[in-house]
Amino acid sequence: MPRARLIAANWKMHKSISEAVAYAQEMRTALPTLPASCDIVLIPSFFAVRPAVEALAGARAWVGAQDLHWEASGAFTGEVSAAMVKDAGAMYVLVGHSERRHGFAETDPIVAKKLGAALGAGLTPILCVGETLSERESGLEDHVVERQLAVAFGDKSAEDARSTVIAYEPVWAIGTGHTAKVSDAVTMHRTIRKWVQERFGSPIAKALRIQYGGSVNPSNAADLLASDEVDGLLVGGASLDLASFLGIARAVVRS
Ligand code: PGA
Repeated sequence: MPRARLIAANWKMHKSISEAVAYAQEMRTALPTLPASCDIVLIPSFFAVRPAVEALAGARAWVGAQDLHWEASGAFTGEVSAAMVKDAGAMYVLVGHSERRHGFAETDPIVAKKLGAALGAGLTPILCVGETLSERESGLEDHVVERQLAVAFGDKSAEDARSTVIAYEPVWAIGTGHTAKVSDAVTMHRTIRKWVQERFGSPIAKALRIQYGGSVNPSNAADLLASDEVDGLLVGGASLDLASFLGIARAVVRS
């Protein structure tokens, strides 16, 4: 059973509610023109989650949130719980995006707690992992990604792993225009799948969807998706423009 490709648009801190809704409505119109084996997820700001969900109601496309807090509720000014994300209608949530890890001091243990909260609420987490440039230059990329996986899944079950999507996003490729070489992305995807296989067994590793993210655009998407190891793309900058994001989604050819 081939894994359906998951093409996600991470809008970061961009787009007003009305811009998000207009995009989602146009996306909805364009969905029939996309390959059937391609799942689309829009990941707007928290405010636009609900309006985007409403704009896509009944369509074969989903909405995610960019982050969440690990506690169920409490005195955490400015934070949003997993239940709130779920209540807004999101199905997916990014966990441990590198901009959270590096810009907001999110440690591996915090990421592990967020992963647990997302799973506990019935959301599908997209767990982001990836090394920095200096870590890659020191040959530490496998070590770093395996450590991120080990901590994130430290207290998780095989069922949890089955419900999780992993995004390999080398930090040096995000927003820089320097996409990873396809061979490097594929090598890391294999490393991730092997780690999951050793920890949770073959069926879960085989079903696991691993996205690549980092300066994906309509020109490089087909090369990345040409590998069976690349189960989708997590797209930042190039997803802000609908035509560009559709160009990326159309690079999905697996049926
Ligand atoms: P980018 O961002 O496509 O702009 O490099 C990817 C991401 O941060 O998920």
